[in-house]
Amino acid sequence: MAANWKLQKTVAEAEAFIDAFLPLVKDNSTVEIVLAPVFTALHAAGKKLAGSNVGLSSQDVYPEESGAFTGEVSPSLLTDVGCKYAIIGHSERREYCNESDEFLNKKAKAAQAAGMTAIFCCGEPLEVRESGGTNDLLARQLDGGLKGLDPEKLIIAYEPIWAIGTGVTATPEQAQETHNFIRTHLARVFDDSVAQAMRIQYGGSVKPGNVKELMACQDVDGALVGGASLEPQSFAQIVNFGG
Ligand code: PGA
Repeated sequence: MAANWKLQKTVAEAEAFIDAFLPLVKDNSTVEIVLAPVFTALHAAGKKLAGSNVGLSSQDVYPEESGAFTGEVSPSLLTDVGCKYAIIGHSERREYCNESDEFLNKKAKAAQAAGMTAIFCCGEPLEVRESGGTNDLLARQLDGGLKGLDPEKLIIAYEPIWAIGTGVTATPEQAQETHNFIRTHLARVFDDSVAQAMRIQYGGSVKPGNVKELMACQDVDGALVGGASLEPQSFAQIVNFGG
């Protein structure tokens, strides 16, 4: 269960969240829990999370280690502040920063080379779903983005763009059908046993009220949560969905 805070929370707000959140999830030993704050709060968040059952993620990463890349942050700088995960290819970055599958593939490879697990996002806009092109688009995103990656350090996040921040969630049937397609396709990219073991998160308006039915789907293994991860109680309810 990963919290994607996007462009939200100061250092003080991130610290206050963590202080309130850790006691709520400390007894949960079955769920892998991850927080992804903005770059500026990563260092402070990493210090607070050290020794806890909650991991730290960046929301992005640059594929080069160092050099003349003004404004960018490299994988080893992220591991230096405690990041064990990097979200890669979120639809907002694909759209606003024009990130291609080829570029995202480089990012994911660089993150893995530094020891991080890549949370690789894929998903379709509404017009693609309505025209029946979802599976073709996802196949292209996965083929281009996952080439040569280490499946041991990879998590897939399926995030239908029409469900992100809209309050419209994919129905459990829609989520299951698409996750099943993704898993089948992963068997082609890797092999069947890798595909069976791969964690596929659903993202898009996940809330305490709908997490259970989504997690009941056979091929839904977790969630990448935006809006409902901003409050400690709300995200803790999602993490603790199993009771
Ligand atoms: P949301 O965002 O939960 O606010 O829909 C999910 C995401 O974009 O990762």
